[in-house]
Amino acid sequence: MNILSPSILSADFWNLGEQIREVERLGVKYLHIDVMDGVFVPSITYGMPLIASIRKHTDLFFDVHLMIAEPERYVEEFAESGADMITFHVEGTDQVEETIQKIRGCGRKVGISLCPATPVEAAEAYLEMVDMVLVMTVEPGFGGQKLISKCLDKVADIRRMVEARGLSTDIQVDGGVTLDNVEQVLRAGANVIVAGSAVFKNDITVNVTTLLEKMRAQEAR
Ligand code: DX5
Ligand code: ZN
Repeated sequence: MNILSPSILSADFWNLGEQIREVERLGVKYLHIDVMDGVFVPSITYGMPLIASIRKHTDLFFDVHLMIAEPERYVEEFAESGADMITFHVEGTDQVEETIQKIRGCGRKVGISLCPATPVEAAEAYLEMVDMVLVMTVEPGFGGQKLISKCLDKVADIRRMVEARGLSTDIQVDGGVTLDNVEQVLRAGANVIVAGSAVFKNDITVNVTTLLEKMRAQEAR
């Protein structure tokens, strides 16, 4: 199933609650929450207090993307704050399997993520253990960058691996998705689409409606 996961990184934080309600009303089911620590990536965003605060007001599925060093240190806290799925970078820890188990132990869904330069082989051994693989199509750290189309080859490779093993692992693409390239991203094999600026910049209703329409049309093919 194709899923749209709007990234609140590009939202207007003054109106965050309203904007979350708006995407929810338009039929969105996921919310992508980017956590950056200024160590794994150059920038710093938000963390558990923000997640806990919005958790009280919505039942959206919280897709939490940890761009932090040593994610294993914070799994319990993110789970408690209200994450439904915790995705971490394989480049950020030397304890990938332990971190996966820790997230599972908290009863949350698990995702692993690959930076643009990381080969698909880095995810291969964990495919059976995770619910989702996130293929970054920009260098993690900032919204509004241009999609690196070479990364879509990795999406296709992972899709082939998942199918060859008869798995139902979701494949998420994050970074530079637009109304114009979303179909290309889906064709490459992704089924969970993160969109920050393509949702929250300009008209949210037009953006979400167009993205969802294109995603449904692609699915019906
Ligand atoms: C970037 C974040 C993304 C970001 C995407 O490091 O992981 O989730 O919000 O923003 P856009 O869709 O604007 O490229
Ligand atoms: Zn993200």
